[in-house]
Amino acid sequence: MDKKTIPVMIIDDEESILNFMSKALKKEGYEPHCFVEPRLATAKLSTVNPQIVITDIVMPTMNGLQVLEAVKQFNVETNVILITAHASVESAISAMRGGAFDYITKPFEIDELVVTLKRALSSKRLNTVFPAIEKKTQSMYQVSKLIGNSPKMHEIYRLLEKVAKSDSTVLVVGESGTGKEMVARAIHYSSPRKSNPFVSVNCASLPDQLLESELFGHEKGSFTGALATKPGLLELAHGGSFLLDEVGDMSLPVQAKLLRALQEREIKRVGGIENIPVDVRIIAATSKDLQAEIEKKNFREDLFYRLNVIPIFLPPLRERREDIPELISHFIGYLKEKYHMPKELEFLPDGMDYLMTYHWPGNIRELENIVERIFMLAEKKSLGRDDIVQLLGTELRSVKDMTRGGTMLIELKNETENVLKRRRLSRHSSNRMEINFRQLNGFILVVRRCSIKSKSTTWNRPVFRTKCKIFLHSEVGKAVFDKIKSFRLYRNNPKIINA
Ligand SMILES: Nc1ncnc2c1ncn2[C@@H]1O[C@H](COP(=O)(O)OP(=O)(O)OP(=O)(O)O)[C@@H](O)[C@H]1O
Ligand SMILES: [Mg+2]
Repeated sequence: MDKKTIPVMIIDDEESILNFMSKALKKEGYEPHCFVEPRLATAKLSTVNPQIVITDIVMPTMNGLQVLEAVKQFNVETNVILITAHASVESAISAMRGGAFDYITKPFEIDELVVTLKRALSSKRLNTVFPAIEKKTQSMYQVSKLIGNSPKMHEIYRLLEKVAKSDSTVLVVGESGTGKEMVARAIHYSSPRKSNPFVSVNCASLPDQLLESELFGHEKGSFTGALATKPGLLELAHGGSFLLDEVGDMSLPVQAKLLRALQEREIKRVGGIENIPVDVRIIAATSKDLQAEIEKKNFREDLFYRLNVIPIFLPPLRERREDIPELISHFIGYLKEKYHMPKELEFLPDGMDYLMTYHWPGNIRELENIVERIFMLAEKKSLGRDDIVQLLGTELRSVKDMTRGGTMLIELKNETENVLKRRRLSRHSSNRMEINFRQLNGFILVVRRCSIKSKSTTWNRPVFRTKCKIFLHSEVGKAVFDKIKSFRLYRNNPKIINA
């Protein structure tokens, strides 16, 4: 946004103050329109079409509160900054309730005015870009709206409540989909900064140069394609909170610039010379092990210490499985509302068991997606395990984890299909097998074409299929593998295909 294109209306009955402000704003590159007479000013609103109105409160013919009212009638989005002598601070506060953006008290430094002006503009830009989201998130994302009653989550809530009150930098660490962004928002919307912007940037999704100019802004002509001056997102978040998402993916040059900004509490736009003070609460999030990245020289140690003031570790979903039923009913409720579908849906014990014992490598995000798929596709009210598998068209499995290094794929071959077909498994042994698989739950990521499903019609007892593939989490893979070897049926032939 080029400042020269931003008309600002200034109203004050003291001409000297008017001149003083006008000069300063011109120097800053704004387009000031000055009025000593408030009535004339309000009559000219549609001609000037100001982005911001700065007005004195006490004036002889019309006071600042009446100006505010007129401006809001003209355009509710136009921000009004009030200038007030100490004596009339109270009326300024009541004006704020009436929709004024902020007030400054006389005598003031011009810097103070400029900073307030920038904030008024940025909040305007943010609010016009994301008005609905901002309102929705405000009510949606307080700490009290987080779902989960497990001891681990309660520990996190206690920490969040404390952290929210402070201004300390927070580093949220957790696997993908564990709720890092949600926690960052919860901190912001439970903090005193909640009515100021929450801005986030995903450091992994933008190429270097773009990330730099998004964060810090750029001056017109500072690089090819920089057709206009653009304030950075850090600048726009002034007074609010800033989420540096996937901070572990930030390149070293941008890390250096960010470190400087955090130390100095001011930024310089790309190609700019001016230092712009910013007051933002930094929340960084990452799914990477930053210590390991430091060792690999991918992450600056000094930046790490700046960010890691209050670390918050979000546990993977598989470590708080007791939260799964609550999360599921939360998502179902949300979907009903979102799609206006008064659909009733519940899970039979074996269905819930199935969802609770899955490994959830994609954590809450994966759970949310699966619940949405089931919700959309389900035609009956009560769903068991087989219904879920049928609806999803496959056993629960995560493509991502299957390809991730360190995951082990084990193929278990039964003796031979023929032998199996002839074999009648005793109830005892089949049950044991089932129990063992259950005990291994949490370690087994995917059990495909596996066991226990088909029943011999004659005996009505489980018959194992010829082949099953089990994807194991690497840390426990070996132990589980040994355990599987101890199953009578597979004793001789489990084979690691991919370790
Ligand atoms: N405690 C929670 N209660 C309810 N919903 C949650 C909770 N935590 C996360 N979610 C939901 O799970 C999804 C993933 O959360 P979020 O985007 O915050 O995770 P993330 O850790 O930032 O993921 P990624 O690493 O993939 O960016 C979101 O849709 C979010 O609404
Ligand atoms: Mg995220």
